[in-house]
Amino acid sequence: MNSPAGTEGPAGRAGRFAGRSVVVTGAARGIGLRIAERFAAEGAGVLMADADPGVVDAARRLGADSRAAVLGVRTDVTAPEDVDRAFALADETWGRLDVLVNNAGVITISRLEDLALDDWQRVLAVNTTGAFLCAQAAATLMRREGAGGRILNAASGQARQGFVYTPHYAASKFGVVGLTQSLAKELAADRITVNAYCPGIVGSDMWDYNDREWGRLLGDYAPGELMAEWVAGIPLGRAGTGDDIANLLLFLASDEAEYITGQAINVDGGMFMN
Ligand SMILES: NC(=O)c1ccc[n+]([C@@H]2O[C@H](COP(=O)([O-])OP(=O)(O)OC[C@H]3O[C@@H](n4cnc5c(N)ncnc54)[C@H](O)[C@@H]3O)[C@@H](O)[C@H]2O)c1
Repeated sequence: MNSPAGTEGPAGRAGRFAGRSVVVTGAARGIGLRIAERFAAEGAGVLMADADPGVVDAARRLGADSRAAVLGVRTDVTAPEDVDRAFALADETWGRLDVLVNNAGVITISRLEDLALDDWQRVLAVNTTGAFLCAQAAATLMRREGAGGRILNAASGQARQGFVYTPHYAASKFGVVGLTQSLAKELAADRITVNAYCPGIVGSDMWDYNDREWGRLLGDYAPGELMAEWVAGIPLGRAGTGDDIANLLLFLASDEAEYITGQAINVDGGMFMN
């Protein structure tokens, strides 16, 4: 990316991402909120987009706490008009876009015979089609500026191996890796790198749901018990955190990572090694 890092940011702040602007989807809570916080702390202008209207207050709080330039906009990543509005706002505000983090994601868990077509379609729509729509909008802005860019897509351990009772989620995350590789090839000429990240088990609302629903279908687990059992199998011996994910993304978004594209990188304490 062309603008010198560490100079003046959208809010006149110093920092590794000063002068850069970042869109993070699914940023109202969980991993996405932590990613937005970390980019803001590094001086970036951050647009937080989420289907949850609470994202507007979350952005206001982050802007007040960090004194960074932070905007929140209710955005359903499956709705092209919402996506267009969010990226137009980033463009109006900063006149450029450097980084997109396609973090928004959903999961449902059910036996095959109970898996409703609506759930299948919604999970693919948010996790895969939403990433495509946002990447398309982001690449348009990045190409116009000609300064390169970074697109970072949330995949999962389920992009390595499908887990039971989640065929739609596994399909959506394998799809994210395919999207990542194809876009990496197409956008390389514009110095836009495209990479995916694969979290393992990170404490969040999504994992509370997973613990409850997988626990119910896999056996008689008390709350937290299934997650503890799975975490016990992680070589590095703990669940992941939003910071573990953000640490990787800050690197992939940096100038130091300009020669890395088309990769899907596990950030899971060694849960998967392929
Ligand atoms: N938590 C984990 O262990 C884990 C593991 C692997 C992958 N992931 C992936 O990481 C990402 C973040 O997960 P999390 O654990 O923070 O989940 P979460 O459920 O805590 O947060 C997801 C966020 O996405 C938002 N969202 C949902 N649908 C949306 C839509 N249509 N448009 C815009 N925003 C939408 C939600 O409102 C929420 O703020 C997801 O893509 C998830 O699949 C998480």
